[in-house]
Amino acid sequence: MHSVLVTGANRGVGLEFVRQLLRLREPPKHVFAGCRTPEDAMELQRMAKDNQTLLIVKLDVSDETTFAESVEMVDKAVGEKGLAVLINNAGILRLGGTETTTLADMEESYKVNVMGPLAVTQAFLPLLKRAAAKSEINSHHLSIHRAAIINITSALGSLQLCTSSKYIPYRTTKAALHMLTQCMTFDLSPAGILVVALHTGWVRTDMGGKTAILSPKESISGMLNVMRYLTEINAGQALTWEGRILPW
Ligand SMILES: NC(=O)c1ccc[n+]([C@@H]2O[C@H](COP(=O)([O-])OP(=O)(O)OC[C@H]3O[C@@H](n4cnc5c(N)ncnc54)[C@H](OP(=O)(O)O)[C@@H]3O)[C@@H](O)[C@H]2O)c1
Repeated sequence: MHSVLVTGANRGVGLEFVRQLLRLREPPKHVFAGCRTPEDAMELQRMAKDNQTLLIVKLDVSDETTFAESVEMVDKAVGEKGLAVLINNAGILRLGGTETTTLADMEESYKVNVMGPLAVTQAFLPLLKRAAAKSEINSHHLSIHRAAIINITSALGSLQLCTSSKYIPYRTTKAALHMLTQCMTFDLSPAGILVVALHTGWVRTDMGGKTAILSPKESISGMLNVMRYLTEINAGQALTWEGRILPW
């Protein structure tokens, strides 16, 4: 992975991804931390001061007007090597059952959790395709070390594991993200881009809450370990942070 862009990188899972990517034994040459308000992202700013590898880019996944500038910044940094890995991590969790879910929450959840990953992927696709084309890895193979999109998902999006209706906006959007992962796989595999969905586990972040089972450190080190070995057999799959298949 010579370059990685993480969306929603100012806190929670995204911030820990950035932290651990920078500490890898063989770190990427470029780590791009996407966030809505870079001026408020104090921890990212502190990390960027100590590490030239890290570049903070302004990116609101539900606001296309923020895309052009961030694509330009990434393009300029990676040059002809392109962008190797896009981690579509930004997400929101809205509660609600059949009688209580508001259409506003449904709309916002679709914008961030489904349309966001699609739109960000579309914006960075030329750079991802460039990475796939320039890679030294055999052009018949898909690999995280060539070009890849990781869609961060949740077990709450699994139909088979569904035990309650409490989170309709969240569950339905993560289920849709699984389908998006499949559809992207059909379209992008021929261009050499691997697409996989990864479930973080239940993590102690603002979203997961204090009682969650995993620390961000445990979840992300697990996911990075899973990511290291992703190849074409994983195309379109949803996997857990431990590398198990997530039932759809
Ligand atoms: N925590 C868990 O237990 C858990 C479990 C399964 C899956 N996940 C998934 O893991 C991912 C990260 O979750 P988390 O636990 O880190 O949540 P979090 O602590 O609530 O952080 C969410 C991140 O997404 C960003 N974000 C929200 N809307 C955005 C937008 N429109 N554009 C750009 N960034 C936006 C937030 O930025 P702001 O600070 O600007 O709001 C923040 O950086 C999500 O996709 C989530 O569904 C989490």
